[in-house]
Amino acid sequence: MDPDNITPEENTTAADQPEAPATRYYGKAVALVAAAGAGHRLGADKPKAFVELGEHTILQHCLLNIAASGVFEEIVVMASFEMCSLAIDQSTALELDIPVKVYPGGVLRSDSVFEGIKRIMANDENDPVSIIAVHDAARCLTPPKLFADVVEKTRLLMTVNNPGAVIPALPVTDTIKMVDSVGNVIGTPDRSRLRAIQTPQAFDAKLLSKIHEQAAAEDINTTDDAALFERFGITVMTVEGDRRAFKITNPEDLALANIYMNQDEND
Ligand code: CTP
Ligand code: MG
Repeated sequence: MDPDNITPEENTTAADQPEAPATRYYGKAVALVAAAGAGHRLGADKPKAFVELGEHTILQHCLLNIAASGVFEEIVVMASFEMCSLAIDQSTALELDIPVKVYPGGVLRSDSVFEGIKRIMANDENDPVSIIAVHDAARCLTPPKLFADVVEKTRLLMTVNNPGAVIPALPVTDTIKMVDSVGNVIGTPDRSRLRAIQTPQAFDAKLLSKIHEQAAAEDINTTDDAALFERFGITVMTVEGDRRAFKITNPEDLALANIYMNQDEND
């Protein structure tokens, strides 16, 4: 793998081209929501994104928080094929002030994200996209500010010609150990250097697209998109994450989500 292949060819700063700035700095920011999972661990009678949490579904909470951030021109939702029409109905009902497009996802999360990137970049020449923020629908209580933080930092990095890749990180409170294949401890990393990583993860759209293409060609699958950047030797920066951006995974997580929602109402 040659990381140079991944570097976008439009490798100039805005200052180099004051008359005609490179569009990648000024194109639109799109939120890409991965909502095509089945939610097996949650064990509900419907896919996780469509489970109700108070007045809205998980997907609707997610869309409301993304729209409230004010940093996106568009939202693209990846849903399982059979849930696409319900996803459209639920987003239409919110009457958001930015467009929401819904497309069918794939078997793995990484397939859904890659498919979404292809959809978003399909019209890039006519309607340039500068930033894609990839987000798990299951992190539906992520506050609007966190979306703004990752997008604004990514845009700042791109204007000074650095690779735009910014992810939310929180310190871990447990001691984390490495184990071997039979569960015997083989090491204890220094906890002060460990971080739990969340979404939204914001990236230079063209770089993200190229990296996903290369990963697909080499059959590389990772649990998040930042890991692909790391594999290709590209710097990924962090911003401070937020506890409310936790991922609803198991049934008890719904109780935590309700606590956070009640807290927000009382603020
Ligand atoms: N996801 C997706 N496409 C897939 C699998 C997952 O878009 N093929 C999304 C999920 O909808 C979720 C996010 O990726 O918002 C994180 O995945 P996870 O928490 O594992 O959700 P599920 O895959 O739905 O849950 P489970 O693994 O328990 O079935
Ligand atoms: Mg899953």
